[in-house]
Amino acid sequence: MQPISRRRALQLAGLGLAAATAGGVVLTRTAGSSFGPGGDELREPSVLRSADGLLQVRLEAARGPVSVAGTTATALHYNGGLPGPTLRVRPGDRVGIDLVNRLDQHTNLHVHGMHVSPQDNGDNAFVVVEPGRTFTYDHRLPPTHPPGVYWYHPHHHGTVADQVFGGLYGAIVVDDPEPLPVARERILVVSDITLDGAGTVQQPSLMEQMTGREGQLVLVNGQTRPRLLARPGERERWRIVNACVARYLRLRLDGQRMQLLGVDSGRSPAPQDVEEIVLTTGNRADLLVTAGAGRSELRTLPYDRGRAAMMGGGARPGPRSATGDPVVLATLDVTGPAVPPLPAPPVGPAPRDLRGEPVAATRTLTFGMDMGAGMGMGGGMRFTIDGRSFDLDRIDHVTRIGSVEEWTLVNTSPMNHPLHLHVHPMQVVTSADGALRTPVWRDVVDVPARGRVTVRVAFDDFPGRTVYHCHILDHEDRGMMGVIEAG
Ligand code: C2O
Ligand code: CU
Ligand code: CU
Repeated sequence: MQPISRRRALQLAGLGLAAATAGGVVLTRTAGSSFGPGGDELREPSVLRSADGLLQVRLEAARGPVSVAGTTATALHYNGGLPGPTLRVRPGDRVGIDLVNRLDQHTNLHVHGMHVSPQDNGDNAFVVVEPGRTFTYDHRLPPTHPPGVYWYHPHHHGTVADQVFGGLYGAIVVDDPEPLPVARERILVVSDITLDGAGTVQQPSLMEQMTGREGQLVLVNGQTRPRLLARPGERERWRIVNACVARYLRLRLDGQRMQLLGVDSGRSPAPQDVEEIVLTTGNRADLLVTAGAGRSELRTLPYDRGRAAMMGGGARPGPRSATGDPVVLATLDVTGPAVPPLPAPPVGPAPRDLRGEPVAATRTLTFGMDMGAGMGMGGGMRFTIDGRSFDLDRIDHVTRIGSVEEWTLVNTSPMNHPLHLHVHPMQVVTSADGALRTPVWRDVVDVPARGRVTVRVAFDDFPGRTVYHCHILDHEDRGMMGVIEAG
């Protein structure tokens, strides 16, 4: 692998941004709230691991007391945890999930980014699990399933943002065939939430829903600013999930070495040194962090996704952390005697490049926001793809299994929309910055305000109906979703 320029590394990380110009850092809580100051040692969600090719789990979605930000809140949770348990599996595994709905509303479960069938009791976004009911999912991972970090969350149209904001999410790790040489692995599920004085989840305003709600508390594994400890020279593997409803993460860890192994699924042949990583909602980062010395903060910096422009026009500004101030997510303390360096991770296989393959069909998806007539959902704007709102009975696109397609994603609106396609990952061919030279794969691709992006998709396997949507979950709930059928 030849060395790459910093600019290239930034593009690989999905960025194309100049260095940060952030000012002071604010706390991840508002004044007068009763939440702890943070600083506790990082806790990780419990782990449920497959054995002999099988993982059978029961996930109970419920509302009730749960530990959030050092206090007990009344929120949503799977199996009593926020986040829910981490599922750890291997390519070729079978994953059975009994989803028990103890909520007072409909829900279901989506395994975001997983390359599994969307039909029947697979990763079927059309399943509805009524209160009190249990639904059994059966996912069969192909033996070629890419390793990486994925996640699960509800996907019942109309309540996705509320249920994710309320606390329903968890990580899924598909292990590498051979573990990489690291001192330890960490799962960092980043989410945000707003709690009122009584510790219950606050409902967002209509404006917050239209712009995509950003919670006042930014959590890592349900904690505020947890503390991580490492010794000088230790190399760790961090798997970061952006489980926020709408917040983009623009991550920095100044003072320590950060290398990107992959985003979403799979990994690049060799880790790339990066200073910043942008994760849209739904994206994940697979990172190597090598501890140097001293104390560093994992921070997320402001990212312009068009939200301020939407809220602007003299409108009252939102809570401080929601207007895009930097937020400290965690601190890394490097102390103790240095450890000897580990061997470099083995070089991984070169990723597939669809630019060498014939394109069977081209499509254009146009993302729009308008003040259409008969605005539903209690007023506000309509969020559309190709001028239409989601209709689960309508098939918007039909494709053939075995074909490679090229999609041009056009955004006519003043806000970014991160497009997510279920089941089939997308190769970004042309970003807003121009054509990419190396293969970049994502399952959520940011389409900048008034910009366009070109992706290619290989529909190799898994026939059936599935969905694509804006992963600002408020937009998805308001109709920015479509149906594609592969046959
Ligand atoms: Cu993470 Cu269709 O969603
Ligand atoms: Cu998904
Ligand atoms: Cu959107």
